[in-house]
Amino acid sequence: MLAGEEGEAVRKAMELIVALGDIYGAERLIPVSSGQVSGVSYKTIGDAGLEFIEDYADIMKREGRKVRVKTTMNPAGMDLDKWKTMGVPEDFAEKQLRIFRAYTSMGIEPSLTCTPYYFVNVPKFGEHIAWAESSAVSYANSVIGARTNREGGPSALASAITGLTAEYGLHLDENRKADVIVEVDFKPEPYMYAAIGNHLGSVLSKMGKKVPYFRGIRPSKDDMKALGAAMAATGSIALYHVENLTPEWKHAIADDLERIHLDRTEILEHMKGMDMGCEPELIAIGCPHASEEELRRIAELVRGKRKKQGKEMWVSVSRAVAERNPEAVKAIEEFGGLVLRDTCMVVSPIEKRFRSTAVNSGKAAYYLPKESFCRQCIRFMPLEELIMMAVEVEN
Ligand code: F3S
Repeated sequence: MLAGEEGEAVRKAMELIVALGDIYGAERLIPVSSGQVSGVSYKTIGDAGLEFIEDYADIMKREGRKVRVKTTMNPAGMDLDKWKTMGVPEDFAEKQLRIFRAYTSMGIEPSLTCTPYYFVNVPKFGEHIAWAESSAVSYANSVIGARTNREGGPSALASAITGLTAEYGLHLDENRKADVIVEVDFKPEPYMYAAIGNHLGSVLSKMGKKVPYFRGIRPSKDDMKALGAAMAATGSIALYHVENLTPEWKHAIADDLERIHLDRTEILEHMKGMDMGCEPELIAIGCPHASEEELRRIAELVRGKRKKQGKEMWVSVSRAVAERNPEAVKAIEEFGGLVLRDTCMVVSPIEKRFRSTAVNSGKAAYYLPKESFCRQCIRFMPLEELIMMAVEVEN
């Protein structure tokens, strides 16, 4: 492949994988069973990214190549059907569609979600995969027990094209062991996991820790999704273990690990700091994309109610989850909310339309205020309170 016997597209991809293997001291290449490609939103990759993807897609077309393993793609900058309702500008939409077409021409599935592990690309325990999208990487490693490094868009694409990755990092047993114990000294409410992740990611990153082992908590899968996504955003954490719960916890721990403690006051204080106190124009739920259970819960909370004038409500999900839950989608839309597929509040150009957004996601709370990215004044609160802000109170 490296010698170009399979053409230019494969040669370039292999060059990148070998370079990464050299940098990280990998001894060999290993096959991967799936890929998840990031760098899909025009907002995140811009014109340079668009040009790169289209050029690559052209080479692959010329050489008759497609990705070699099942590969799915991250959210785009808009819902492909409802972009006008979202207020996405025409020129943005045109470029976004070009990126989408280039990726699909390579054989990448048009999944457009950061939760491919719901129905569309579901790895098994112990399987080696090459995924980009930090929240999905965290979920695949920690909750499912599959093995992936935190790939970038180009390296995930390179693995999809070659079917291989270099064996280093989280593909190896020794790097999957915990390096710190987090003793949680209280029973968190479900909404707190996003804040715990947001707080802990930066704490661990300052300590130089990479694989936390939690004691004293019993999160649901949705809680773990929120926790992992937030830790990945603020601290690049790609794997964690929860005692008596996650698939690798039994082999994850050594006796002499450093310990840190988390108490309720610390998390409540942190949550206060995450909330900027403004009046939100947009209520945005579904970062990472909502699960079936989350979507149904939102529907339950808004069913039969009316949305307040002047407030927008967006719920982001994958097409797969929306299609399986038409009743929930209908209830949210009858309420006046917008159920968005293919995109989210962070990777769509919300800054062109809104100045303030309320979320329950620790990851969104990290990215939305960034001056160079979304420029939002944010509120951070539990799901039930978010919904209450959007509901018209009948007199
Ligand atoms: Fe997914 Fe967008 Fe959040 S891609 S993890 S919903 S920032």
